[in-house]
Amino acid sequence: MEVITKAAAATEIKADCVAVGVYADGELTPAARAIDTAAKGALRAALKSGDASGKKGATTLLRHLAGVAAPRVLVVGLGNRAEFDERAFVEAARNAIKGAGAAVRQLALAALEWTGSAKAKQPGAQALARRVVTTAREVVFRTDELKSRKDEAPTAPGTVILLTTGKDAGVDLGLRQGVALANGVDLAKRLGNLPGNVCTPTYLGELATRMGKELKLGVEVFDRKGIEKLGMGSFVSVTQGSAQPPRLIVMQYRGGAKGAAPVALVGKGITFDTGGISLKPGAAMDEMKFDMCGAASVFGTLRAVAEMKLPVNVVGIVAACENMPSGSASKPGDIFTSMSGQTIEVLNTDAEGRLILCDALTYAERFKPAAVVDIATLTGACVVALGEVNSGLFSPDDELADELLAASRGALDAAWRLPVEDAYQDQLKSNFADMANIGAPGKAGAVVAACFLARFAKAYRWAHLDIAGTAWKGGAAKGATGRPVPLLTHFLLGRAQ
Ligand code: BES
Ligand code: MN
Ligand code: ZN
Repeated sequence: MEVITKAAAATEIKADCVAVGVYADGELTPAARAIDTAAKGALRAALKSGDASGKKGATTLLRHLAGVAAPRVLVVGLGNRAEFDERAFVEAARNAIKGAGAAVRQLALAALEWTGSAKAKQPGAQALARRVVTTAREVVFRTDELKSRKDEAPTAPGTVILLTTGKDAGVDLGLRQGVALANGVDLAKRLGNLPGNVCTPTYLGELATRMGKELKLGVEVFDRKGIEKLGMGSFVSVTQGSAQPPRLIVMQYRGGAKGAAPVALVGKGITFDTGGISLKPGAAMDEMKFDMCGAASVFGTLRAVAEMKLPVNVVGIVAACENMPSGSASKPGDIFTSMSGQTIEVLNTDAEGRLILCDALTYAERFKPAAVVDIATLTGACVVALGEVNSGLFSPDDELADELLAASRGALDAAWRLPVEDAYQDQLKSNFADMANIGAPGKAGAVVAACFLARFAKAYRWAHLDIAGTAWKGGAAKGATGRPVPLLTHFLLGRAQ
C-alpha cells in the first residue's frame, strides 16, 4: 500500500474511486459539496432518501455520478461534527479504505478537510497525513511469511491518493513520517507474531546486526559469556534452563549532536515464557511467544526514528532469552547477584522479566542517559488493572511521566499512570537476600514489579511501561499490535523539537 498526494479537485481526480466525508446531520465537507454541485444534487438526494448516510461508520458507494471524473464516489459517514476528534478521523479513514471494495485499486481520499468541530484543537495537515498512512498500513498488514500458501487477493486499494489543496503545509513530511512509523510498527508486529522457535534470542541478535548495517546503527551483541563477564547474574539465572543461548543486544542511533545524552530504551525480550520451574498453566500458553514485545518495540522505534532521521541520540538495549524449566533451570529459593551487586531471592521463576531487566537497567548507566524508558510485558496484574486499553506507565519523575503521557495522547496509543511508591517496597522483603523477586499475591502486582525495577534505576531519570495488556490481542484476531511504538516514537519526536 502506497500513499501519495495530488493537488486536485475531488470532481476531477482520475482514480477508481473518490472518498468524501459527510457529517451525521447531513452537512457536507467541501469536497462532498463540490461533488454534489457537479452531480446536480445527487449526493444530497442520496442522503435525503436514506441511500447514503453521514452516520459514524457508514460508507455508501455511488456509481457514475454526472460531472465527476472518478467512476465511484464513496460517501464516508463522519458522525457528529462536534464529536469528531482524532480517533474519529482514524476510524473514518479506516472505513473509507476498507469500504472502497475489491475493484478499487486507486482510492482518492479528500480527508485533509475532515477537521471536525471548529472548537476542538485542529491537528493540522501534517498529523492528518501521517495518520492516513499509518491507518492504511494497518488495514493491509498481515503476517503470512510462515504460511505456505499466501492469500494474494487484494483486500484494499494498492494506492491511496491524498487530495490536497496544494497549500497544506507539512503534508509531505507527514507522509514520510507516517511511512517511517508504519515501518516501525510493522516490524514490532512481525517480530511479536513470529513463533518462539523462529524468533529466538539468536534471531534477534542477527536482526540487530542487519538493521545496524541498513540504518547505520552502532550494534553490539553479547553472547552468554559476554553477559556473564558483565556480571549479569540475575539475567543469567533466567537463561540457565534453556537450550537457546541468550543475547544482550545494544543498538545506538546517533542522529543528535555529538556528546548529547541519549534516551535509552530497554526492552524485555523473553522469546518464550513457560514460567520456568514455576510453570505456567497450559491454557493459551502459546501467547507467551509475545513476551518479547517490549524488545520488539525497541527495534520498531529505532527503525521509525532512524528512517525519520530524527536529530536525537537513542540507545536500544534488549535483554533476550527464553524462560524454560529443565534440570539446569533456576529454582524457587535460589539467590543470585545482579550486576548492581544487589542480591535477589527468586521466589517465583515466572517473575523473570524483572530479573533480566534489572541487569539491563544497570548496564544502561554507562551511557549517562538523559532518560531511560523500559518496555515490558511484565505482569498479568497490569492486564487486570487496565485491560487491553491502556499501557501501564510508572515513573517517580512527574515531568518525564507527563512527557510520556502527552506523547501517548499525540500518538493515540493510550497509557495510564500508576504509582511507584516506597510504601510498596516492603512487599519485596527477603529473609535471605537483599530482596525477593515477588510480593504478596493479589496485591498491586504491577506496582510491586515496577518498585522492583526502581531499585535498579536510581542513576538516571526513568520510566517503565507495562505493556502486558496492550502488546497483543488474543482470540480470533490474535496478533501483536505494534504498541507502544507510536507512543515511543512520538516521545522522541517531541524530544527532537
Ligand atoms: N510474561 C508474564 C506476564 C504476563 C502474563 C503478560 C500474562 C501477559 C499476560 C510475566 O513474566 C509473568 O509471568 N509475571 C507473573 C509475575 C508473578 C509471578 C509475580 C504474573 O504476572 O503472573
Ligand atoms: Mn513469567
Ligand atoms: Zn514473562
